[in-house]
Amino acid sequence: MAADIRLLDERVAAVRDDVIGWRRHLHQHPELSFQEFRTSEFVRQTLAAFGPFEISSPTPTSVVARLTGAATSGGGQVLALRADMDALPVQEENQFEFASRQPGVMHACGHDGHTAMLLGAARVLCELRHLWAGEVRFIFQHAEELFPGGAEELVRAGVMDGVDFVLGAHLWAPLECGYIGLAAGPLMAAPDVFSITVVGQGGHAGYPHQTVDSIAIAAQIITNLQHVVSRQANPLQPLVVSVTKVAAGTADNIIPGSAEIVGTVRSFDPSLRDQVPVWMERIVKGITEAHGGSFRFDYRRGYRPVVNEPELTERLRAIWAQAFGADRVVEVEPSMGGEDFSAYQQKAPGTFFYVGARNEAKGIAHPHHHPRFTVDEDALAVGVKAFVSAALELLAPRG
Ligand code: NI
Repeated sequence: MAADIRLLDERVAAVRDDVIGWRRHLHQHPELSFQEFRTSEFVRQTLAAFGPFEISSPTPTSVVARLTGAATSGGGQVLALRADMDALPVQEENQFEFASRQPGVMHACGHDGHTAMLLGAARVLCELRHLWAGEVRFIFQHAEELFPGGAEELVRAGVMDGVDFVLGAHLWAPLECGYIGLAAGPLMAAPDVFSITVVGQGGHAGYPHQTVDSIAIAAQIITNLQHVVSRQANPLQPLVVSVTKVAAGTADNIIPGSAEIVGTVRSFDPSLRDQVPVWMERIVKGITEAHGGSFRFDYRRGYRPVVNEPELTERLRAIWAQAFGADRVVEVEPSMGGEDFSAYQQKAPGTFFYVGARNEAKGIAHPHHHPRFTVDEDALAVGVKAFVSAALELLAPRG
């Protein structure tokens, strides 16, 4: 490794307490997607105190900071590092002194930690500017949790222009603190959503023959939608079709005129992703017509799947095996969750990785989005070191 690991550990240890302090401050003052005004202001002010960052705000609540390396024999490459900053509409149930002061809003996914880790990496990389060449672009992204997401907006604003590689991290509750989770290729699915309205003809429940029963039709649709995964898609391709909301009716003696079915589809393969709504609509159409009803079918595509570029991912695996020890870098399986980090991966080779945040001995084991979710704060230094070691290697001076 070009940079001395002892120096790296020393610098990361020196920012450790500040990173924890920033995380706690952000945790106390969470803001929802697209409303990260105070958060982004905090990021701007904290960065400005570190050194010569070129700071901009491509959207009202995002921050992009560019820093140039001071090594002379550089290849002039650009590495983007991304953190998301938004919180969730969850009422926190933790009793920390730094628990959320915002009723009904909580950093229940760990994005407070992501922001703090990236600030820590920015400070260390600024201090070690003489060891790297080119540019590090720190992207503090708004609105990961709420479709259409902040990433797409930032890409459209040009934040990925000229970028050679992009990295993003998620503090990860399923993974033990001290470990980094990595996977080449597909990591997170494309999360699409659908809404089906079955239109029948309402009437008296005692006279069903005078109605078109939207509930009975909806029940058939829900059952038949299971065939998309079990009978129509290739069983070797991951796919989820989940109905998550059914709404109809008002009373025990009325057949309602319409019923609503809402849910999500998760997939990786682009052609399968295109095919699923076609299959679904065919089922909905066939069943409603068979029973004399009609329908509205609304299908909305969400984020693209997160697919890690294999070559970059293998380079990172080698870098982190040196920085942390090979046994600390573990292979993770793809999951059917979604992430708008995928938007950056359309523009440059990118890797999204997990920073283990679980510690059962400390009682830190609740899943993401839970009212008692938290992270082992020891994980924050791991994240800082992962970002910094990757930057020092990917942007190492040549010759
Ligand atoms: Ni998250």
